[in-house]
Amino acid sequence: MRIVSTLKELAQLLSECTKNKSLGLIPTMGALHTGHIALVKKAIDENDLSICSIFVNPTQFNNPSDLEKYPNPLEKDLLLLEQAGCDFVFAPTKEEVYPEGYVSKDFVFGTLDKGMEGANRPGHFKGVAMVVSRLFELIKPQKAYFGEKDFQQLAIIQSMVKQAPFPVEIVPCSIVREASGLAMSSRNMRLNKLQLTAAPRVYQRLFKASKMCSSHSIFEIKTWLKNEFKNDVDLDLEYFEISNPTTLQATTNWSECDRHIACIAVFAGEIRLIDNIMLEIN
Ligand code: PAJ
Repeated sequence: MRIVSTLKELAQLLSECTKNKSLGLIPTMGALHTGHIALVKKAIDENDLSICSIFVNPTQFNNPSDLEKYPNPLEKDLLLLEQAGCDFVFAPTKEEVYPEGYVSKDFVFGTLDKGMEGANRPGHFKGVAMVVSRLFELIKPQKAYFGEKDFQQLAIIQSMVKQAPFPVEIVPCSIVREASGLAMSSRNMRLNKLQLTAAPRVYQRLFKASKMCSSHSIFEIKTWLKNEFKNDVDLDLEYFEISNPTTLQATTNWSECDRHIACIAVFAGEIRLIDNIMLEIN
């Protein structure tokens, strides 16, 4: 596995190795877990070569303490990538990604970035688009892999690729969960014992909500779920939205579309967890 950290090394690696070969990119912020590795394995399966980027992108953190506390176990990450069979790793510094005077393209996301993460983390998606467009420009992959765990991010990236346009296929990957149902996340390693027992309730409630959709209205499900969290001293609900999966606009009636996406953000202490589930209406 070749590891590069400067733009010069990256350009050299790409010109030496990727001629006439398909390249799959997996953008990450490190602190890798089985969810990330599932993306890496898919990229290995579907391309001649795979490259994983590890960069804790400062421009997408609206909360400085979240950035400061973001885990950064690089040696462990490299070992996991090597074991998975990843070909290349790009692990740059902030200065390499954003040289002085660097100006990012501006993207317009319409309804996609107005609610949920967009509303609760101002500037977050602008930062995500900034770093992912930069990675696409530098690496020029044929395919790039993103998890459905960050459903709104996936929609933003798909919109950004169309706007730029970038000649890259975005490959959505299913959410990987712990046996308890908790969606895997780099932030889970910051949960204490009590929070670790509470956190699976996020998915348990989402799952129950998905089962209720044939017999309850959207309003009833939202009311039920909000009440569950009101009575839970270990978890604080930030938002719970049921939306059109294409526009990400909140829906109020099941007849508005065939499928709806239910997205949630919850605090366990100061650790923020997000998750989602697709609601299929028959
Ligand atoms: P990060 O949180 O490290 O996630 C990297 C990729 O792994 C994202 O596409 C995310 O959706 C996916 N992922 C994380 N947990 C997952 C899980 N449990 N199951 C499936 N996929 C999962 O998302 C980011 O980094 C950043 O915003 C990034 C796109 C790298 C830009 O900085």
